[in-house]
Amino acid sequence: MKEYKICTSVSVKTAEELSPQEQAMTEAAKGAAASSYSPYSHFAVGAALRLEGGEIVTGSNQENASYPVGCCAERTALHWTAANHPGVRIEAIAIAAKNGGHFTSQPIAPCGMCRQALLEAERRQGSPIQVILYGTEGIHIVRKIEDLLPLSFNQDAMSI
Ligand code: THU
Repeated sequence: MKEYKICTSVSVKTAEELSPQEQAMTEAAKGAAASSYSPYSHFAVGAALRLEGGEIVTGSNQENASYPVGCCAERTALHWTAANHPGVRIEAIAIAAKNGGHFTSQPIAPCGMCRQALLEAERRQGSPIQVILYGTEGIHIVRKIEDLLPLSFNQDAMSI
């Protein structure tokens, strides 16, 4: 039998320890939560993407009475970016969430579907997308999306 291990390193920072760039990202994600349409879950999520060149674009979760129709903040921001800035690399994503009107104390991590979508964007652009997960009690930073979705299904598996 052979065995191998997959390791993910997470940096945990206080708000004061964030670089100005990371701070701008978390503030943008927090601000984006304000445009969430979440009358069903009352869970407002904001995502901010920093593009090469420095522009920050945002998205929020958009729900629907037919629940599966709704879209997470991450994919709202990701797909908007692909449609409006085709070919532009994404350097980082920040995510923040409000529950009952207050930002969560612990960071929230992207759901599996968003990880799959973000991973394909990361592979497609050929450079890492840093992940910044905001919580009032600490901010978690992961080097790239691939670290959040090891053993992924991707197009390599479909090649003959
Ligand atoms: N949600 C996000 O927008 N991003 C995540 O990473 C997790 C969940 C949304 C989906 C739904 O509108 C609400 O949060 C509750 O699951």
